[in-house]
Amino acid sequence: MYVCLCTGVTDREIREAAENGVSSMRQLGKELGVGRQCGRCACTAREILRESRSAD
Ligand code: FES
Repeated sequence: MYVCLCTGVTDREIREAAENGVSSMRQLGKELGVGRQCGRCACTAREILRESRSAD
């Protein structure tokens, strides 16, 4: 599913980024642009990031 509609980033892409070492929203914004425009995706993106981290 799309998490960030502004940049067309999916939950899968966020999980992949997390696997590749992205561990904060700031990094995610830098890598994928998530949360940098309207910001509505920030909550969900942070949640997915946290889930993928604890799944390590
Ligand atoms: Fe992610 Fe707008 S939906 S910045």
